Amino acid sequence: MTGPAVKRDLLSIADVAEGLGGLLERAARLKDERRRGAAKPSLPGKHLALVFEKPSARTRTSFEVAIRDLGGHPIYFSASDLQIGQREAVADVARVLSRYVDAIAYRAFRHTDVVELARWASVPVINALDDLEHPCQVVADLLTMRERWPNGFRGRRLAWIGDGNNVLHSLLLGAGAVGLSVTAAIPDAYRPRAEVVRAARALADRSGARLEFTASPEAAAKGADALYTDVWVSMGEEAQRAERERAFAGYQVNSRLLGLAADGAFVLHDLPAHRGQEITDEVLDGPRAAVWDQAENRLHAQKAILELLLAERAAPGPSRPPHRRRSARSPARRRS
Ligand code: CP
Repeated sequence: MTGPAVKRDLLSIADVAEGLGGLLERAARLKDERRRGAAKPSLPGKHLALVFEKPSARTRTSFEVAIRDLGGHPIYFSASDLQIGQREAVADVARVLSRYVDAIAYRAFRHTDVVELARWASVPVINALDDLEHPCQVVADLLTMRERWPNGFRGRRLAWIGDGNNVLHSLLLGAGAVGLSVTAAIPDAYRPRAEVVRAARALADRSGARLEFTASPEAAAKGADALYTDVWVSMGEEAQRAERERAFAGYQVNSRLLGLAADGAFVLHDLPAHRGQEITDEVLDGPRAAVWDQAENRLHAQKAILELLLAERAAPGPSRPPHRRRSARSPARRRS
């Protein structure tokens, strides 16, 4: 079978904005099939390279199990294996890996490196987290919300409490695409990037979602259908720890804040959590935490993503760099 002339990457959740509903539907079906022991290996013999510059529990494990469940094989490279950008240029790694594998999942410090890898790879590249976005996480997040809201996203509102970080960037874009309203409570100095907000608002204008920002966690949480928080200090920001812990001190998801949300509201966290900082033990271990389902859903989301990007592609072959990407509607690509 011949693959499409222009490969498809997932560098931003905006790259799958149009088909996001179908992607979630497929992930839900894959979850159901796995639970029933009826999973089918839809990607036999496909090889997935996992190139990780940073540590990972969920993203690595879910991709490794996903590709194996689908009949393929993972190959994991830690930062010390490839020393990408030091031992070898990103573009050269992209061209070489494209001769061996059918897709590359890349966790990088810099979004510019993910874009560079995708530019030179002749196989699909998946952003497994960088400083701008975490699109795979948000596919799993939306799947988790969809399971709890059988009537869909419209009319629902999520409150984000904390940092305007890469996860929020993908969440705003994903929410805008599916029609989920978001109120983000963020200290003024940590607001998300303006170009991401613009891109998310363009999607929200079409779906009817409202995307709002406040500095007040209480205002965001009041009447919300779900609360979502993340660490105050992400990987690579350790030098800012003291300053960030001061800035986010009032942005904790605890029982008091959850008490302001709607009846039946649940709590999301992409993990790892820093217990006692952005979230309390009481909430994380309590009955309204959806975080363990959310973590499980990374697996089903990865499978749907891999199928979407890989199902119709031919075996690896010579690259024709630099590559054009299909569906390149992502917002600005860089956060220094
Ligand atoms: N949420 C998330 O990406 O977890 P890991 O960093 O463990 O992959």
